[in-house]
Amino acid sequence: MAVSTITDVEVQGDRLTVGWADGRRGLFHAIWLRDNSPEPDARDPRNGQKLFNITDLAPETVIAEAAIDGPLLTVAFAPDGHRARFDGAWLKAHCYSAPEAAPERRLWGAELKEDLPTARYDAVVADHAVRARWLGHIRDLGFALLTGVPAEPGMVCRVVDLFGFVRETNYGRLFDVRAEPEPTNLAFTGLRLSCHTDNPYRDPVPGLQLLHCLVSENDGGESIVVDGFKAAALLNEETPDDFALLTRHGVPFRFESEDAVLEARAPLIRLDDRGRVEEVRFNNRSIASFDVGAAIMPAFYRAYRRFAEILQRPALEVGFRLEPGDLFMVDNRRVLHGRKTVGGSGHRHLQGCYADKDSLLSTLRLLEAR
Ligand code: OGA
Ligand code: ZN
Repeated sequence: MAVSTITDVEVQGDRLTVGWADGRRGLFHAIWLRDNSPEPDARDPRNGQKLFNITDLAPETVIAEAAIDGPLLTVAFAPDGHRARFDGAWLKAHCYSAPEAAPERRLWGAELKEDLPTARYDAVVADHAVRARWLGHIRDLGFALLTGVPAEPGMVCRVVDLFGFVRETNYGRLFDVRAEPEPTNLAFTGLRLSCHTDNPYRDPVPGLQLLHCLVSENDGGESIVVDGFKAAALLNEETPDDFALLTRHGVPFRFESEDAVLEARAPLIRLDDRGRVEEVRFNNRSIASFDVGAAIMPAFYRAYRRFAEILQRPALEVGFRLEPGDLFMVDNRRVLHGRKTVGGSGHRHLQGCYADKDSLLSTLRLLEAR
């Protein structure tokens, strides 16, 4: 018997309990079941979209009858008389009375250097399994390299075309990263850039950033990436009060140039509705003046400094040098990137662009379902 076969059902008015063959049990409320009816008068069979509103359902909805029918559970509702058949495996996957814990995240530090998540451009273009593996690194680690990307202008956008859509900004569809005489951003100089997430002054913040190397005749300029989720986990372990402060208070970020004034407010570490770290925003260049209130300011500065110190630990840092044809992509809400000082008289030229992560994950799901 399949583990998702329903072996018993017990109705108690506005709810029912089912047992599956593996011993697991689940409670479902009548209103939840009625709202999730898969029947063709509830969901359009052509696209699975719901055909009614919650206000169309009676608030006093109860279960009139429930019975096991092979792999299905048949439920009749009152007062509207609707009948729905639920797949036992579907119910198990959506059971909310004892939800399965979210899968463990793989957090990483300097050891990732021994096994950098990399793919070859040709293979990612030609082979769907390789493409899925490469995109899977972004989902699982928030960072991946690509080698052998033709060192030609515009290729960074062609890489995005492999999984999603370029997010255009005031920097353009793509932007050139090289030393400029009148830089609008310190990225367009030879200065060292400490680890940061890009464009924290946008709402929403770009989910993905790509940087592609066209020329690297300079000295220095090595790239660095740091897992912001690992740094946040360490802060929480070492000084939980600091972690709490950074999650509870927003800070302003700001960028100003001749053609843009961008402002956004966000905590440096954002938790999701289940208390897991969902986003790290950190950028020394564009963080604006804190406004957390006088009572908290000194403690907030201590917490900010501790987080910055953790982010600078060599044990967290993965360094590499981009050569022409190399590209890296980061999950810009998780992984910070930076560069060492660019030196020498040789030319250095990268191109970068942004994209959103939802399309990447969608492409990945489609590829994995093949
Ligand atoms: C950037 C950036 C790093 C580099 O342009 O956002 O961080 O190596 N550049 O030049
Ligand atoms: Zn950057």
